[in-house]
Amino acid sequence: MQNNEAYIFDEIWGELSRAKVDSKHSFRYPVLSTVSADNWPEARILVLRDAIKSTSRLIFYTDSRSPKVEQIRKNRHAILVFYNNKKKVQLRIKGLVNTLQSSQKHQNYFNNIVQTELKDYRSTQPPGTVKTSEEISYLSKEVAKDNFCVIEFEAIDIDYLQLSRDEHKRINFKYEKDRWVSEEIVP
Ligand SMILES: Cc1cc2nc3c(=O)[nH]c(=O)nc-3n(C[C@H](O)[C@H](O)[C@H](O)COP(=O)(O)O)c2cc1C
Repeated sequence: MQNNEAYIFDEIWGELSRAKVDSKHSFRYPVLSTVSADNWPEARILVLRDAIKSTSRLIFYTDSRSPKVEQIRKNRHAILVFYNNKKKVQLRIKGLVNTLQSSQKHQNYFNNIVQTELKDYRSTQPPGTVKTSEEISYLSKEVAKDNFCVIEFEAIDIDYLQLSRDEHKRINFKYEKDRWVSEEIVP
């Protein structure tokens, strides 16, 4: 990787790391797109919970009963889109997705959840199903833990686009064998 491209690569992971702790950071709310069983693209916003540069992993939380989890289990291919309006930077990150539901890592992330967030995993009816009752009843904390699912996104390709009045800049970073390589692309 050339020096300037290595610098941008570090900057990308630096911004992703900041976004996981800064709720106002624009990289905090990317769009995750997956492929459904009948081959339709599906997309939704998720909160970025962790960014680990050393393993190229991005972490999200969701309800294991939600349609996206079934999609991911059938097809691991996914893409994330981020946009920083201040810096005019778009990231499109392709990756392979895993779901964690009963490992030490899952337990560690579950321990970080605050009470107010726990309710997201406690609805009696699964997310995405037709609401049959006005009353919202809640499952126990133990069941909520089973519903709490960690999405582990392993980045393998990053398309970086920096818009600028003078000249746009686009760089493709690809994980090949055991390292990231980069090349400049015509925007
Ligand atoms: C700002 C914002 C943040 C969201 N964060 C999450 C999240 O972290 N996890 C999640 O499962 N859904 C989150 N959602 C809801 C999803 O966008 C989506 O509606 C829901 O997960 C159902 O998706 P699915 O039917 O594709 O499974 C968020 C929505 C918004 C608008």
